[in-house]
Amino acid sequence: ETPTVYVTRQIPAVGLDRLRERYEVVVWDGKLPPATEHIEAQLASLDADGLVCLLSDDIDADVLDASPNLSVVSTFSVGYDHLNLAAAAERDIAVGHTPGVLTETTADLAWALLLTCARRTVEGHAYVDADEWETWGPRLLTGADVHDATLGIVGLGKIGTAVARRGAGFGVDVLYTGPTRKPDREAELAEVGVDATFVGRDELLAESDFVSLHVPLTAETAGFLGEAEFRRMPEDAILINTSRGGVVDTDALDTALARGWIGRAGLDVTDPEPLPGDHPILRHAPERLVVTPHIGSASVGTRDRMAEMTAANVEAGIEGDDLPTSALGDAGTE
Ligand code: GLV
Ligand code: GLV
Repeated sequence: ETPTVYVTRQIPAVGLDRLRERYEVVVWDGKLPPATEHIEAQLASLDADGLVCLLSDDIDADVLDASPNLSVVSTFSVGYDHLNLAAAAERDIAVGHTPGVLTETTADLAWALLLTCARRTVEGHAYVDADEWETWGPRLLTGADVHDATLGIVGLGKIGTAVARRGAGFGVDVLYTGPTRKPDREAELAEVGVDATFVGRDELLAESDFVSLHVPLTAETAGFLGEAEFRRMPEDAILINTSRGGVVDTDALDTALARGWIGRAGLDVTDPEPLPGDHPILRHAPERLVVTPHIGSASVGTRDRMAEMTAANVEAGIEGDDLPTSALGDAGTE
């Protein structure tokens, strides 16, 4: 009998086509995620062997119990804070994710936000678009220099390192923090001329012109930046978040922007996510806040590679082989 796979969204065709070559594949066609109950009902009625999900799906124990045949959950994302990994392990269900392929693409976006916040490009566009551009201005939209600045990286994993490496062209000094010092990463960065120094969280916050977050969302990192942390940052500091919204306390960020504890923030991830257009924090935009809708990995090529990897994980899981990129037992320091 042909194994069955339920897919919770239209992922790039290269992944779906590959799955359809071997399996009976049912794809949720909605623009918004299916309700968790709908995922459970579909897994049950298909007796599904595999599940492909997104970071916007909540994959809890009940979902994992919906089909007795379920052998693999393959998420189209590197992050897996939306999956109950312990419950999957208990049930011997393999869990795959997509590390590596989106590292450079996400690092590109972190720099896009960093440069945008430093040089006020979104404000500049709004200004021109509003027909306010009457003359060249000596004090018009002056921002922060990026070159020779101090860049603080919270979490020097794959993406954090890729962000730091890009600092070579700007001559930045890098400070980084995390649970442990990473001499291998420091050496890798030194090779391209980036001097990366391991410091404690408070020193990083106090000394960095730019702080960029690259930790997974876990019990330890949730709310990593709250009021006390924002108060430690220089008043012109710029915060960049391309990791998970929950790493930042949104109310504290709102207060920090309102009181001028920090200068600006560029967020690709938010809490709540999606951020409703009438959320109070958006009153700071775009002078103090620029938000993009979780597009860190969104290049055409990377999304295709993520789809391939997602399919490869399903294939291995259904065959009973080790997944090419398993989330179980992974340190998750993306
Ligand atoms: C797929 O078509 C679904 O309804 O889940
Ligand atoms: C994106 O945030 C991902 O986890 O892939």
